[in-house]
Amino acid sequence: MKRILFVCLGNICRSPMAEGVFAKVAEERGLIPPLEFASAGTGSWHVGDPPDARAVAAARSRGVDISRQRARQVHVDDFDTYDLLIAMDEANVETLRAAAPEHHHAKIKLFLAFADGVSATEVPDPYYGGADGFSHALDLIEAASRGLADYVAGMSG
Ligand code: 4NP
Repeated sequence: MKRILFVCLGNICRSPMAEGVFAKVAEERGLIPPLEFASAGTGSWHVGDPPDARAVAAARSRGVDISRQRARQVHVDDFDTYDLLIAMDEANVETLRAAAPEHHHAKIKLFLAFADGVSATEVPDPYYGGADGFSHALDLIEAASRGLADYVAGMSG
Protein backbone atom coordinates (compact mmCIF):
# COMPACT_ATOMS: atom_id res chain seq x y z
CA MET A 1 0.00 0.00 0.00
CA LYS A 2 1.95 2.98 -1.20
CA ARG A 3 0.06 5.34 -3.49
CA ILE A 4 -3.24 7.11 -2.80
CA LEU A 5 -5.20 9.38 -5.15
CA PHE A 6 -7.90 11.63 -3.66
CA VAL A 7 -10.69 12.29 -6.16
CA CYS A 8 -13.56 14.78 -6.40
CA LEU A 9 -15.37 16.49 -9.27
CA GLY A 10 -13.39 19.66 -9.90
CA ASN A 11 -10.13 19.02 -8.00
CA ILE A 12 -10.25 22.57 -6.64
CA CYS A 13 -12.17 22.11 -3.35
CA ARG A 14 -12.58 18.75 -1.63
CA SER A 15 -9.79 16.55 -2.96
CA PRO A 16 -7.10 19.26 -2.59
CA MET A 17 -8.21 19.75 1.02
CA ALA A 18 -8.19 15.95 1.50
CA GLU A 19 -4.69 15.68 0.04
CA GLY A 20 -3.41 18.50 2.29
CA VAL A 21 -5.07 17.29 5.49
CA PHE A 22 -4.08 13.68 4.90
CA ALA A 23 -0.47 14.78 4.23
CA LYS A 24 -0.41 16.45 7.64
CA VAL A 25 -1.93 13.46 9.44
CA ALA A 26 0.35 10.99 7.64
CA GLU A 27 3.42 13.07 8.42
CA GLU A 28 2.46 13.25 12.11
CA ARG A 29 2.17 9.45 12.07
CA GLY A 30 5.55 9.00 10.38
CA LEU A 31 3.97 7.43 7.29
CA ILE A 32 5.83 9.59 4.73
CA PRO A 33 7.83 7.98 3.15
CA PRO A 34 6.84 5.38 1.90
CA LEU A 35 3.42 6.84 1.24
CA GLU A 36 2.78 8.90 -1.89
CA PHE A 37 -0.41 10.72 -2.65
CA ALA A 38 -2.01 13.23 -4.99
CA SER A 39 -5.45 14.45 -6.00
CA ALA A 40 -7.42 14.71 -9.22
CA GLY A 41 -10.88 15.57 -10.52
CA THR A 42 -13.25 13.53 -12.65
CA GLY A 43 -14.06 16.75 -14.55
CA SER A 44 -11.72 18.84 -16.69
CA TRP A 45 -13.06 22.39 -16.13
CA HIS A 46 -10.33 23.47 -13.73
CA VAL A 47 -7.25 21.66 -15.04
CA GLY A 48 -4.16 23.72 -14.18
CA ASP A 49 -5.98 25.91 -11.66
CA PRO A 50 -4.94 26.38 -8.04
CA PRO A 51 -7.48 25.31 -5.39
CA ASP A 52 -10.51 27.57 -4.83
CA ALA A 53 -9.54 30.55 -2.62
CA ARG A 54 -12.14 29.49 -0.04
CA ALA A 55 -10.58 26.03 0.19
CA VAL A 56 -7.10 27.55 0.56
CA ALA A 57 -8.34 29.83 3.37
CA ALA A 58 -10.29 27.09 5.16
CA ALA A 59 -7.33 24.70 5.04
CA ARG A 60 -4.93 27.43 6.17
CA SER A 61 -7.12 28.07 9.22
CA ARG A 62 -6.35 24.46 10.21
CA GLY A 63 -2.63 24.70 9.59
CA VAL A 64 -2.62 23.15 6.12
CA ASP A 65 -1.16 24.94 3.06
CA ILE A 66 -2.74 23.73 -0.19
CA SER A 67 -1.95 26.85 -2.24
CA ARG A 68 0.71 25.20 -4.42
CA GLN A 69 -1.52 22.37 -5.65
CA ARG A 70 -2.74 22.49 -9.26
CA ALA A 71 -5.82 20.71 -10.58
CA ARG A 72 -5.62 17.80 -12.96
CA GLN A 73 -8.11 15.32 -14.34
CA VAL A 74 -8.15 11.63 -13.50
CA HIS A 75 -6.39 9.63 -16.21
CA VAL A 76 -6.87 5.95 -17.03
CA ASP A 77 -3.21 5.32 -16.09
CA ASP A 78 -4.10 6.35 -12.52
CA PHE A 79 -5.86 3.01 -12.00
CA ASP A 80 -2.52 1.26 -12.54
CA THR A 81 -0.40 3.83 -10.70
CA TYR A 82 -2.42 4.16 -7.49
CA ASP A 83 -3.23 1.50 -4.90
CA LEU A 84 -6.27 3.38 -3.60
CA LEU A 85 -8.55 5.90 -5.31
CA ILE A 86 -10.40 7.72 -2.56
CA ALA A 87 -13.65 9.33 -3.72
CA MET A 88 -15.40 12.21 -1.96
CA ASP A 89 -18.94 11.22 -3.04
CA GLU A 90 -20.99 8.50 -4.72
CA ALA A 91 -21.00 10.29 -8.06
CA ASN A 92 -17.19 10.26 -8.03
CA VAL A 93 -17.28 6.51 -7.28
CA GLU A 94 -19.64 5.89 -10.20
CA THR A 95 -17.52 7.94 -12.62
CA LEU A 96 -14.35 6.17 -11.51
CA ARG A 97 -15.94 2.71 -11.76
CA ALA A 98 -17.18 3.48 -15.25
CA ALA A 99 -13.67 4.50 -16.32
CA ALA A 100 -11.68 1.81 -14.50
CA PRO A 101 -10.86 -1.66 -15.79
CA GLU A 102 -12.94 -4.16 -13.80
CA HIS A 103 -9.94 -5.69 -12.01
CA HIS A 104 -9.18 -2.28 -10.46
CA HIS A 105 -12.68 -1.60 -9.06
CA ALA A 106 -11.71 -2.74 -5.55
CA LYS A 107 -9.22 0.14 -5.34
CA ILE A 108 -12.05 2.69 -5.49
CA LYS A 109 -13.39 3.57 -2.05
CA LEU A 110 -15.51 6.28 -0.43
CA PHE A 111 -13.37 8.49 1.81
CA LEU A 112 -15.93 8.58 4.63
CA ALA A 113 -15.90 4.78 4.87
CA PHE A 114 -12.73 5.42 6.90
CA ALA A 115 -14.30 8.06 9.21
CA ASP A 116 -15.13 6.50 12.59
CA GLY A 117 -18.26 7.82 14.26
CA VAL A 118 -19.41 9.75 11.18
CA SER A 119 -22.82 8.76 9.80
CA ALA A 120 -22.46 10.76 6.56
CA THR A 121 -21.23 8.76 3.57
CA GLU A 122 -20.24 11.66 1.33
CA VAL A 123 -18.19 14.86 1.66
CA PRO A 124 -20.73 17.39 0.31
CA ASP A 125 -19.54 19.62 -2.53
CA PRO A 126 -18.98 23.07 -0.96
CA TYR A 127 -18.37 24.84 -4.30
CA TYR A 128 -21.76 26.55 -4.59
CA GLY A 129 -22.16 27.39 -0.89
CA GLY A 130 -20.50 29.57 1.74
CA ALA A 131 -17.51 29.28 4.05
CA ASP A 132 -19.41 27.03 6.47
CA GLY A 133 -19.58 24.34 3.77
CA PHE A 134 -15.79 24.31 3.55
CA SER A 135 -15.49 24.09 7.32
CA HIS A 136 -17.97 21.18 7.44
CA ALA A 137 -16.11 19.42 4.61
CA LEU A 138 -12.86 19.82 6.56
CA ASP A 139 -14.43 18.31 9.70
CA LEU A 140 -15.34 15.21 7.67
CA ILE A 141 -11.98 15.16 5.87
CA GLU A 142 -10.07 15.32 9.16
CA ALA A 143 -12.02 12.39 10.60
CA ALA A 144 -11.60 10.30 7.46
CA SER A 145 -7.88 11.15 7.23
CA ARG A 146 -7.28 9.78 10.71
CA GLY A 147 -9.09 6.56 9.83
CA LEU A 148 -7.32 6.22 6.49
CA ALA A 149 -3.96 6.73 8.20
CA ASP A 150 -4.87 3.91 10.63
CA TYR A 151 -5.86 1.70 7.71
CA VAL A 152 -2.69 2.38 5.74
CA ALA A 153 -0.48 1.96 8.81
CA GLY A 154 -2.15 -1.40 9.48
CA MET A 155 -1.75 -2.55 5.89
CA SER A 156 1.94 -1.68 5.78
CA GLY A 157 2.59 -3.31 9.13
P1 4NP B 1 -14.82 19.93 -5.94
O1 4NP B 1 -15.86 21.13 -6.17
O2 4NP B 1 -15.34 18.75 -6.72
O3 4NP B 1 -14.85 19.71 -4.48
O4 4NP B 1 -13.49 20.45 -6.45
C1 4NP B 1 -16.24 21.57 -7.44
C2 4NP B 1 -15.52 22.56 -8.05
C3 4NP B 1 -15.90 23.02 -9.29
C4 4NP B 1 -17.00 22.48 -9.92
C5 4NP B 1 -17.70 21.46 -9.31
C6 4NP B 1 -17.33 21.01 -8.07
N1 4NP B 1 -17.41 22.96 -11.19
O5 4NP B 1 -18.43 22.49 -11.69
O6 4NP B 1 -16.74 23.83 -11.75
